[in-house]
Amino acid sequence: MMSSTKLSFFLCVWLLVLGCCLGRFVVEKNSLRITSPKSLKGTYECAIGNFGVPRYGGTLVGSVVYPKVNQKGCKNFTELDLSFQSKPGGFPTFLLVDRGDCYFTLKAWNAQNGGAAAIVVADDRTETLITMDTPEDGQGANDEYIEKINIPSVLVSKSVGDSLKEVLSNGETININLDWREALPHPDDRVEYELWTNSNDECGPKCDNLINFLKDFKGAAQLLEQKGFTQFIPHYITWYCPEAFLVSKQCKSQCINNGRYCAPDPEQDFSKGYDGKDVVVQNLRQACFFKVANESGKPWQWWDYVTDFSIRCPMKENKFTEECSDEVIKSLGADLKKIKDCVGDPHADVENSILKAEQQAQVGKGARGDVTILPTLVINNRQYRGKLSRPAVLKAICAGFLETTEPSICLTPDMETNECLENNGGCWREKSSNITACRDTFRGRVCECPIVQNVKFVGDGYTHCEASGTLSCGFNNGGCWKGAREGRAYTACLDDYNKGCTCPPGFRGDGVQSCEDIDECSEKLACQCSDCKCKNTWGSYECKCGRGLFYSRENDTCLARYAGSVNIWMILLVLVVAGCGGYAFYKQRIQRYMDSEIRAIMAQYMPLDHQPEVPNQVHHDI
Ligand SMILES: *[C@@H]1O[C@H](CO)[C@@H](O)[C@H](O)[C@H]1NC(C)=O
Ligand SMILES: *[C@@H]1O[C@H](CO)[C@@H](O)[C@H](O)[C@H]1NC(C)=O
Ligand SMILES: *[C@@H]1O[C@H](CO)[C@@H](O)[C@H](O)[C@H]1NC(C)=O
Ligand SMILES: *[C@@H]1O[C@H](CO)[C@@H](O)[C@H](O)[C@H]1NC(C)=O
Repeated sequence: MMSSTKLSFFLCVWLLVLGCCLGRFVVEKNSLRITSPKSLKGTYECAIGNFGVPRYGGTLVGSVVYPKVNQKGCKNFTELDLSFQSKPGGFPTFLLVDRGDCYFTLKAWNAQNGGAAAIVVADDRTETLITMDTPEDGQGANDEYIEKINIPSVLVSKSVGDSLKEVLSNGETININLDWREALPHPDDRVEYELWTNSNDECGPKCDNLINFLKDFKGAAQLLEQKGFTQFIPHYITWYCPEAFLVSKQCKSQCINNGRYCAPDPEQDFSKGYDGKDVVVQNLRQACFFKVANESGKPWQWWDYVTDFSIRCPMKENKFTEECSDEVIKSLGADLKKIKDCVGDPHADVENSILKAEQQAQVGKGARGDVTILPTLVINNRQYRGKLSRPAVLKAICAGFLETTEPSICLTPDMETNECLENNGGCWREKSSNITACRDTFRGRVCECPIVQNVKFVGDGYTHCEASGTLSCGFNNGGCWKGAREGRAYTACLDDYNKGCTCPPGFRGDGVQSCEDIDECSEKLACQCSDCKCKNTWGSYECKCGRGLFYSRENDTCLARYAGSVNIWMILLVLVVAGCGGYAFYKQRIQRYMDSEIRAIMAQYMPLDHQPEVPNQVHHDI
């Protein structure tokens, strides 16, 4: 079991003390709102466990179950024939267990396997809330199950736990809304985050997990950084050697710059393998790499360096060396000289500005609190709680953006909560076309009328949505009737959708379910002249008049076949004759006018009769 102030990573180092002892550890919290019964209604505080996947930015509703046996959750519930799987139509189960007897992580794992959607641990002593953490190294930390926990976990105080149990023992139902929306500040469209990390790769599962996370998260981190969505800074914890021990063998092997900056021995054996000072130097190189990369405008290269270094220069293969590090730096095209200048001489009795700044940054500022758990992720100046995995961390970073400013990576399918799968998330859905208002996001599901094929649906998203706008006929025919027969197609959807569905001329009906053909002939709506032969067709009719007559649809009468056309021919003829006459007249006038004009001009400027010949002067252009 973990206390909130433990230093989980560095127990082995007896002589090194944290550079800044008197700081403050902040327990990260979310809120727990009891919605029923009335007697308990209210909002309570709970502490986010440092494992599993808290729903940063979201909420989770469930009802509380306190098991009759295995109340501490230390045993396998399946073997006890207990299942907390939610019933169809019921709320998910939040399993309430007591603190004690086994690791918090084991309780959460058993709850998850029993089908619970979240675990609520009740403290067993009266104290301020603590952070539930994973087991220490060498104390069950090797258990692989820890990484598989994906339900959220919260700790409530003893008094809250007691009241929950009392109400449950009376047979009442307790509904709870766990809310992580305010667990992280989300003030604007850029998220600042930092990772307190370490280059040591031989500390067992915690180190492996950190390296795997770096590799896994690299792509997302670089994308977010390149597009300006985030500002990331890596940080490194160092210790200092108390003055009384400066000359000791231990301080000499674990520290650089004369005891100023130390790290614990990687494999906790001073006599073999790499020493703490090798880790400090590599940490410093990583910090310097970041500084130099940032100065060249490519801070995201840090992710390449640390992942490449862990792959190419592992301690296991005896490659955790300066030469190997130099190779990696060179292959990334970074400025090796600048980085070496930044690292300086580890043997010199001088301060290093980078590591000094790192020691100062360890002390909590604002809401962040001291960094004492390694690795620690800090998002918008608040410590992240939960497992270090790409989806869990990305979810938390996404929750750090002001709503609606989240980058698209936050809206990809692996960020979804799958709440739309069950009962369509309680949102509106059109059964026939499968259009739904349920949208799965990292914040949880939202019911919002969708935009499908450019057609915007409007409505409350829960009980109704309907297509709107001019393009609405483009989708599902605007929900209106349409039909095709005999090579003809008709639709009841007008592009002016505000008028709703209207059957086209020749049909009648509600326009939604059906439009029926109107039989114009038998209903005596058209073609009623004597002599006329009426034939109904689908959507229209045909009318034939008697000999020598033709049918005029607009006036619904029969007309003489040539009556109108003779006049037209006459007019045309007159027009043509008039046109030709006019043209001839015009041509003639123009001709005459031109002739006289030209004559006048020529007479003025080219008096040919009197001009003497100009010899050889115009030959240049031949
Ligand atoms: C619990 O017991 C069941 C049945 O014996 C087994 O399949 C399951 O893996 C166990 N779960 C855990 C968390 O040990
Ligand atoms: C990184 O570079 C930017 C711009 O050059 C600067 O504003 C910022 O302070 C630098 N960050 C760090 C951590 O050095
Ligand atoms: C509706 O969509 C869901 C998810 O895309 C799919 O599983 C289901 O089969 C669809 N149903 C119909 C009637 O198209
Ligand atoms: C149809 O009736 C209108 C008005 O009654 C008339 O102006 C028009 O000339 C008629 N059309 C034909 C082709 O007779």
